[in-house]
Amino acid sequence: MTERNAADELSRRAFFLKALAGIGGAFAAAVAVPVIGFGSAPFWSAKSRPRLLSSSVTPVLRGTGWAPAGSLADFVVGETRLVVVPREVVDGWAHGTEPVACFVSRTTETEVVAFDHHCTHLGCPLSWAAGAHRFLCPCHGGAFDPSGQVVAGPPPRPMLTYATKVENGQVLIGPLNEES
Ligand code: FES
Repeated sequence: MTERNAADELSRRAFFLKALAGIGGAFAAAVAVPVIGFGSAPFWSAKSRPRLLSSSVTPVLRGTGWAPAGSLADFVVGETRLVVVPREVVDGWAHGTEPVACFVSRTTETEVVAFDHHCTHLGCPLSWAAGAHRFLCPCHGGAFDPSGQVVAGPPPRPMLTYATKVENGQVLIGPLNEES
């Protein structure tokens, strides 16, 4: 082998070694990035928004305390509407505040009733049909009367209600009544 051939052989070997190192590095990064991302996902998601509630309020996702739902004067006697209140909630080890929707009906001059807005069949969100005076479920045709009693479809029990009270003219929504 001449001196020149030996030099060519060396530079070719160096090139292949560098190329192999580059390919190995790319493979390592392809494996490491998703693994690191997966491992750190709870940290990032927790920083951007604490995940506290699933889409439905189940008995294990209890709101605690009392949340303001607005002035009693804003609710008309005999009417029902959907309101969103900032509920303190507990989901496993996580505690925090989540916007929670519920139906509020003003039944008398001084009283209101608040309903969980999920169907008691499989948890679909209900809507209030004012003309029909029914809470309707879009999923399997469940229907509830204005007091939350089942009048049609497969729901096995009445709508859940929240404790309510009126203080200083403000409507307050309390814990879910699990026996309702
Ligand atoms: Fe409402 Fe099935 S979830 S009727």
